[in-house]
Formats: sequence, structure tokens, C-alpha cells
Amino acid sequence: MTTKTFNPLSADYQQNPYEAYKYLREQRVLFVPELNSWWVGRYEDVRGIANQPGVFSNEKFHEISLGEFDYAPEAESLVASDPPIHTRLRRLVNPAFRPARLLSLAEKIKKIIDSKIDPLVTPGHTFDFQHDFSELIPLDVIALFMNTDLSRVQDFRRWSSTMLSASQRASMTPAQHDNIRLAIRESRAYFLALIAERRKNPGDDVISDFVRAADAGDSLTDEEILSLAILLLNGGNETTAHLLGSVMAVLWDHPEQFEIIKNNPARIPDAIDEVLRYEAPVQTVFLWTMREVEVGGVTIPKDAAVIGCWGSANRDERQFKDPDTFNIDREKRGHMAFGFGPHFCLGNMLGRQEVIASLARVMERMPTLRRATTGPIEWLPSYWVRGPRTLMVTV
Ligand code: HEM
Repeated sequence: MTTKTFNPLSADYQQNPYEAYKYLREQRVLFVPELNSWWVGRYEDVRGIANQPGVFSNEKFHEISLGEFDYAPEAESLVASDPPIHTRLRRLVNPAFRPARLLSLAEKIKKIIDSKIDPLVTPGHTFDFQHDFSELIPLDVIALFMNTDLSRVQDFRRWSSTMLSASQRASMTPAQHDNIRLAIRESRAYFLALIAERRKNPGDDVISDFVRAADAGDSLTDEEILSLAILLLNGGNETTAHLLGSVMAVLWDHPEQFEIIKNNPARIPDAIDEVLRYEAPVQTVFLWTMREVEVGGVTIPKDAAVIGCWGSANRDERQFKDPDTFNIDREKRGHMAFGFGPHFCLGNMLGRQEVIASLARVMERMPTLRRATTGPIEWLPSYWVRGPRTLMVTV
């Protein structure tokens, strides 16, 4: 590998970025002309840039990832803001994710999972685990979290995947751009109506919590709640679905460790934590320099895009012993699959809870489930998100 061949847009890289990450860590910082951005891959460096918001800003997160297709440009966004704006939003939003609320949803989440397994359990049935199972769960859970009408989940799915596709906008047709605009228009109208309704009749759900949120005379505006609602839809959907697919793919690749979990389901959280390290669903973070700054001896100019690689940091040999070995007994943890610093994933407990419960129910209800094909997993064509594109299995 050379600096010239380090290309996150290439198919080879996207199918297996880990050799390229090794090179990135050796070089410490690389400029990638195709993406006009500086790439950082060592654990300590990624941690450092994610935790210095005054120098490496999140403010351009949407501008870099979604461009003109920002779904709520009129409001400050939780994920695309820096302190003190971010601190204020996070303080108002945090209580909605309290552990007691998540615990109270456990039985209902299990019911959602069972309802997706029910049509699949016939012995000998072959299906796409990713498309027919993993992808169906997170949006039902978000609808439950918001206590919204389940009949709109199909729309949630279309809106969320269409809006997220804006990261590929440069290679899209005008008709596809129109589609993104339509998804933004429809989702905005839906959530603004929902917020108005919850202002009149608040209940026990996350949108009502946002409506009620108050701190030292401060509260959230409708536009801020709109931005948050769509962020939950976009941030909590594909991440969780990709994690679930990767969990199955990695466990089938490591049958001796899968056996340990089958014999002792209390080890499921350890296995999921190690998959988060080994195949992080979110591989990169998009930052922006507020001034000229040095990282690892390399000077990065002011107003430059900097991409930190969680996926590379999680495989850093300086941090993890035998980083390319999947090992659920690993002693040293501390992966950064949920980010690091002020923007640490707000939904990490919910996401984990969904995937733990899903794996447990799959093991109980489809104990003989196995891959229907041999050969390597086909991964999503992306340098940003990671998960199986498809995963054919037989019951
Ligand atoms: C289980 C899979 C998930 C993974 C791997 C994941 C990963 C991440 C990462 C890496 C970040 C940091 C982004 C940054 O630094 O700019 C983040 C932030 C965030 N995530 Fe997650 N996430 C997951 C599930 C969820 C779920 C289920 C929700 C909610 C329903 C959620 C909501 C959020 C929100 C709101 C933020 C922004 C927090 C802030 O800016 O303060 N995530 N997530």
C-alpha cells in the first residue's frame, strides 16, 4: 500500500479496510485527495481529535455528510454542533434516554423481535437475514420509543434510507435528488404534526419528553425537536441493523466462540461488545479544523475536513493485543464504536439492548440457523458504515 493507493472510495478498501487502516496507522495522518480530507487512524489520535471540539468541530457534520440535503437547517442539530450549543441540547435531551425508560420497553422490544421471527421459523426456510430480519427491527423500536402509529414504519424506513443516501449525492441522478427532497418534505411534515399533537397531549414517550424538557428556564423549540426526531430515525436505524448482521456474520466465522455463547447466553453482551470493536457499524467521523493544528507531526490547515476512523482505532495494535483476532474473552476493552467525547452515542444502551435481545431470541427460536452460502461476506459499498449487504441463511 502507498499513499496513492489508500483510497476509501475503492471497492477493495470497502470490502476489507483493515489492511489500509494498518497503513494509515503507520503513516499516522494521510491526505486523501479524492475526498479532500485528512485521515487519522491511531487510537490515541482519533480519541484526541474527537474530544477537542474547539479545534476539531462537529459543526460541518451535515454539510460534509449530507451537503444541501440537511433535513432541518433552520435548527441547531445535536450531532452537528459544538459546546456550548451542544452541551445545552444534550442536557435537555439526556433524560429521555434514562435507563428506566429503556428497561420498561424490554418486553415490548422482545414482542417486536418475535413478530419478525414468526414468519421465518419454518425448518429449511432460506431467507436474507439482513433484509428480512435485521433491518425490520430498529425502526419498529424507534416507533415504539416515540409511541407512534406502527403503520408509518414503512415510511420511516423509506425516509431514513433515502435521506442517508445523500452521502452518495455526487454520483446520483437529478431524479434521485428529488427523491431525497421528497423524503425530507414528508418526514418534516409528519414530525411537525406529531410534535404539535404531543404539545397538546403529552404521554410517556421520547417526543413528549422533548416537549416537556426544561432546564433553568430553557426548553426545546419545535424546530429543535424536529431535528432530534429525524436524527433518531437516521442515527438509530441502519447502525443497529448493521450491528445485528455483523454479529451473526462474525459468530458464524468463529464457531468455537459461538458455541460458548450458545452454552452460556449470559456471554452475549461480551460477544456483542467484541463485534462492535471488530466490525464497528460506524467506521468514520466527520470533523472540521477551526485553526491550523498538528496531529502526529503533520500540520493540518484551518478549515480542513478531518476524518477520524473509529474502525481503525479499534484495531490499533498499540491499544489492543492481537487486534485482528476476534476474542470474546478479551481483557482490555474501550473500543470507540459508539464514538468518544461530547457526541458519544446517545442511543448506545438502546442499540445494545435491541441487538442483545435479538441474538438471544434467534438462538432460542432458530437454534439451527446457518449461512446458506459459503465464501466471504459481501459488505456494504461504503467507507462510512459497515455491515453485511446481504446474509443468506437457512433455518
Ligand atoms: C447500535 C448501534 C449504534 C452505533 C454503532 C452508533 C454509533 C454512533 C456514533 C459513532 C456516534 C458519534 C457520532 C459523532 O461523534 O459525531 C453516535 C451518535 C449518536 N447516536 Fe448512535 N449508534 C448506534 C445506535 C443508536 C441508536 C439506537 C440511537 C437512537 C435511537 C442513536 C442515536 C445517536 C444520537 C442522537 C447521536 C448523537 C449524539 C450527540 O451528538 O450528542 N444511536 N452513534
